[in-house]
Amino acid sequence: MNIGTALTKSATKALLLGSGELGKELAIALQRYGVEVIAVDRYQNAPAQHVAHRSHVIDMTDGEAVKNLLALEQPDFIIPEIEAIATAALAEIEAKGGCTVVPTARAITLTMNREGIRDLAAQQLNIPTSAYAFAESFGELRAAVDKGIGYPCFVKPTMSSSGKGQSKVEFPDQLQAAWDYAKASGRVDTGKVIVEAAINFDFEITLLTVRALNNQGEAQTYFCDPIGHRQEHGDYRESWQPQTMTPAAIKASQVIAEKITSAIGGLGLFGVELFIKGDDVWFSEVSPRPHDTGMVTMVTQKQNEFDLHARAILGLPVDTRLHESGASAVILSGIDGNSVVYGGLAQALAVPGSEIRLFGKPQAFVNRRMGVALATAATADEARIKAAIAANLIVIKPE
Ligand SMILES: Nc1ncnc2c1ncn2[C@@H]1O[C@H](COP(=O)(O)OP(=O)(O)OP(=O)(O)O)[C@@H](O)[C@H]1O
Ligand SMILES: [Mg+2]
Repeated sequence: MNIGTALTKSATKALLLGSGELGKELAIALQRYGVEVIAVDRYQNAPAQHVAHRSHVIDMTDGEAVKNLLALEQPDFIIPEIEAIATAALAEIEAKGGCTVVPTARAITLTMNREGIRDLAAQQLNIPTSAYAFAESFGELRAAVDKGIGYPCFVKPTMSSSGKGQSKVEFPDQLQAAWDYAKASGRVDTGKVIVEAAINFDFEITLLTVRALNNQGEAQTYFCDPIGHRQEHGDYRESWQPQTMTPAAIKASQVIAEKITSAIGGLGLFGVELFIKGDDVWFSEVSPRPHDTGMVTMVTQKQNEFDLHARAILGLPVDTRLHESGASAVILSGIDGNSVVYGGLAQALAVPGSEIRLFGKPQAFVNRRMGVALATAATADEARIKAAIAANLIVIKPE
């Protein structure tokens, strides 16, 4: 792999579709190898745009807008960071050749819709998942639950992320509200919801899985140590690495992750979300890109998830080894407002082994993720306590 000189005719260019906090770290990782980075988002001054060589603001669900921008920039790599993208335009551009959609246009299309990825995993690959059904009307939803999914269950829009439109339904009289919420909050109304039986897991993990070229130049699968995490309302609050698991559960997790990522294909890092109970493992979903719970790797691995994604994309060798136990805790805004001010940084960084990342989002709203606290310690449990303390010391105030 040759890398050109950024900002000249020979530049190797990567265009990020979506420029949030994960894109920001990826932009930095790519720039360290000399790549020219173009950051795109639907609003100005998104986190990755603070560090990119240049940026654009477009509606990324508008296929024409995406195609026009790609014609203008002619990137070597198109790297979707979010799910809400005009995927048909990406498939068209990939088919023309001359650039790589990371990991592949098919992967982006499959994973943005719960239907595509769920059917691939459960039906084609025989990977264990929760019992599930799709419903296009409230009647279909109720029939699916009555006929076997049962209670408790989860109702989700087929296209959504970060828990939006998602409800846990314990009793029949809550089903109508869950249907209405899913229909109202899906990112794109596909007309469908998915209903899943609740898995009564001991804990859930993200298994960061990398498809990268080995010394022979062949795609090989590499695994990071499992990352445990805690979710509230479908959004992550804290994560830690390594999560202790039985050898059988680790093996089963790796087998599932290998199957699903090789079926998806392409080069890059994937976040495979799994539910674990004893030795049993269920597949939940997969992101074909760095994962929010994987931010912990910024302190636990020599090559964090962003370095691994950058290296894999560029065809470079990877090393997924854990360096130190650690944890992350999100910093959420308690207020709505623009140009907020962050206090308590010195106090937070005085917690031994801690790190803070502030994303620089121009607008805060209640419960928006504005930063993350990271910590290392002798054990992941100790690191969790430190990360939570550091996160709580950051105060978000009006300007
Ligand atoms: N079938 C299920 N059984 C048990 N828990 C579930 C189930 N489905 C979802 N959850 C819980 O809700 C969380 C969010 O679900 P899911 O990952 O499907 O939503 P999401 O909107 O894609 O979230 P994100 O984009 O943050 O990953 C899961 O991490 C898990 O804690
Ligand atoms: Mg998820």
